[in-house]
Amino acid sequence: MAKMWAGRTDGNTNKLADDFNSSIHFDCKMYKQDILGSVAHAAMLGAKGIISGADADTLIEGLEGILNDLEIGTLEFDMTCEDIHMFVEQELTSRLGDVGKKLHTARSRNDQVALDIRMYLRDRIDTISALIRELIIAVTNKAEEHKASIMPGYTHLQRAQPITFGHHLMAYAMMLLRDLDRLSDCKKRMNFSPIGCCALAGTTYDTDRHFEAEKLGFDGICRNSLDGVSDRDFSAELLSALSIMMMHLSRFSEEIILWSSWEFKFVELSDSFTTGSSIMPQKKNPDMAELVRGKTGRVYGDLMSLLTVLKGLPLAYNKDMQEDKESVFDACDTAEMCLSVFAPMIHEMSICTDNMKKAAQGGFINATDLADYLVKKGLPFRSAYKISGQIVAKCIAEGKILETLTLSEYKEFSDLFEDDIYNEISLETCVSKRISEGGTSVSSVESQIAFVKAELNK
Ligand code: ARG
Repeated sequence: MAKMWAGRTDGNTNKLADDFNSSIHFDCKMYKQDILGSVAHAAMLGAKGIISGADADTLIEGLEGILNDLEIGTLEFDMTCEDIHMFVEQELTSRLGDVGKKLHTARSRNDQVALDIRMYLRDRIDTISALIRELIIAVTNKAEEHKASIMPGYTHLQRAQPITFGHHLMAYAMMLLRDLDRLSDCKKRMNFSPIGCCALAGTTYDTDRHFEAEKLGFDGICRNSLDGVSDRDFSAELLSALSIMMMHLSRFSEEIILWSSWEFKFVELSDSFTTGSSIMPQKKNPDMAELVRGKTGRVYGDLMSLLTVLKGLPLAYNKDMQEDKESVFDACDTAEMCLSVFAPMIHEMSICTDNMKKAAQGGFINATDLADYLVKKGLPFRSAYKISGQIVAKCIAEGKILETLTLSEYKEFSDLFEDDIYNEISLETCVSKRISEGGTSVSSVESQIAFVKAELNK
């Protein structure tokens, strides 16, 4: 079929060129936004007297009919169309005849596609945000259950100080909360309407861009028509926010993978979120967590791909920009999939509190508290640190632990040691005394949980 834009050329493009040029197989995802944008545009054209009120009504009815037919499945996309915009206009014209041809007055596909993608992505942000909230709830509930379960806290992956599992989990809740915030921030900047920028320079018609923007739920209009049609910074920003969110999920996944190993056995994933091996009968593999970790690379790739597409483009629209969609769609799909699987995986994960406690009992994890004990008895911290280090060295040499050294052995290092040392270095005390805000004590973790819940209810 000759192209809708046939005129200067005969529009009879080579089939290879058609296939190469076509974007309908992925931009058809934006059919709803495209049609709703056109409804607002037709209404504006009618309200401003650019077309008659009757024509505007006919266009709107026609567009709504197409939307309805697509949704109920009685109309299929014509994959020979160049893109979703051409498909809708072609369908409208075939249904309405000449009136259909009036829709594209005071508009270009350049502002149309910029509009569609903003509307489409702001909806995806809402879906992704809802999934992040569900994950935060799953993480916070688990943390509540385990606010007193002692585990080793690590630095350099070496046992460092005792913490609670609830405290560890709440770190992820805080990260995810910021991810939510980043998405809402991104949506704020995205939510400005480019429609009416037209091809690049605006239009000679007496349009009302605010009318369209308001009808479509935007907070305002893009203030420069070149910018409106040619920037995709909002997509790059979304991809950055999603990359950071995936980085958090990936770190969390890495820990779940480690914790599920026999070396740690801090957690046991439920059978429904693990897989077996085709050859090794004993295996129970944390594939979901591994895939989330793997898919993180894919989302980073999507971000890089978009930034690279944009980096050398002169203003305003260039066809390169058609390449903006697949990366951002892929990242949204990936993020949604990962989040959807993560929340129930966390919910169903059981925690091996005894193993965690046992691990916390090794590694002289309470050595800082030993030093703090001496500080509280009057020694300067550096001296206390040195003595505690020497005591640890003695324990290692003699195969002992701090809890089993006798008081006279302690006294060989300092007269300040008394019977109360044993209570001071018990893991429970180490945890319960860390009441500083944000710390690992049960009361601190409880206030972290309360904070997160309040943020979610805002
Ligand atoms: N499919 C195109 C895209 O995604 C729509 C805009 C085309 N504009 C143009 N002047 N060829 O970017």
